[in-house]
Amino acid sequence: MSLQTDKPLTTVATLQKLKDDGKKFSCLTAYESTMAKVISAAGVDVILVGDSLGMVIQGHDSTLPVTMDDLIYHLANVARGNQSSHIMADMPFMSYSTDEKALDNATELMQNGAHSIKIEGGEWICKLTSLLAERGIPVCAHMGLTPQSINRIGGYFVQGRDTNQHEIMISEAIKLEEAGAQLLLLECVPAELATQITEQLNIPVIGIGAGNTTDAQVMVIHDLLGISCLEKPPKFVKNFLANSVSIQDAIKQYDQDVKSGAFPAKEHTFFK
Ligand code: KIV
Repeated sequence: MSLQTDKPLTTVATLQKLKDDGKKFSCLTAYESTMAKVISAAGVDVILVGDSLGMVIQGHDSTLPVTMDDLIYHLANVARGNQSSHIMADMPFMSYSTDEKALDNATELMQNGAHSIKIEGGEWICKLTSLLAERGIPVCAHMGLTPQSINRIGGYFVQGRDTNQHEIMISEAIKLEEAGAQLLLLECVPAELATQITEQLNIPVIGIGAGNTTDAQVMVIHDLLGISCLEKPPKFVKNFLANSVSIQDAIKQYDQDVKSGAFPAKEHTFFK
């Protein structure tokens, strides 16, 4: 596979157009330059520099220890390797605990190669979402299982299964879009809920453990390569390297399967 490309940069407008045209897009995490280059060359639309780096790179048991310095270091490496993918950067735990902190930290991410930032939360991040959006920073709101709140949630459980939580999540997703979020990420929710949110929102919805009706899928690159940091990989993970001849082929297969809707299959999906 050639690593050269003349493809223009994927922007939030590109992703919006894909949703408007009914086309799915792919997203993978990366934390360093060579992998970013390979992922981008494979045609993956979005590279997420996720705070999952705390687990898969640093060996922590949660994302909480990840700092802004860690994120910036990995983001800058990814930006150097990227060709045309949209780079989304996670805002680490507590880096958006006040508006002032959030504005400074989001600025730093955008100045180090991010094209959008991701923050975890529901209604409580609406005001911050508006603040960032008004200042020209594209926001992806991350709902459902939000790993930075793992100590409040009590474990990596599917979210939005009961009727009350289901309705609250739909209403919060709508409020986040109204507040100016340009992307929404849903983690570990029943497929029925993800379908309703994806249908009701105009902005693209990216899923992980949210079934295959969302507009896009994201996966941690280590999971795709079958080297999950957990003893037993989560249900929504598929090892694409198992049936591929190279890492490049595995990533290409993931990209194709996401875009065709073949991945995730039923066995990777949570239901109510
Ligand atoms: O940090 C991360 O990699 C993420 C994905 C799992 C969605 O937030």
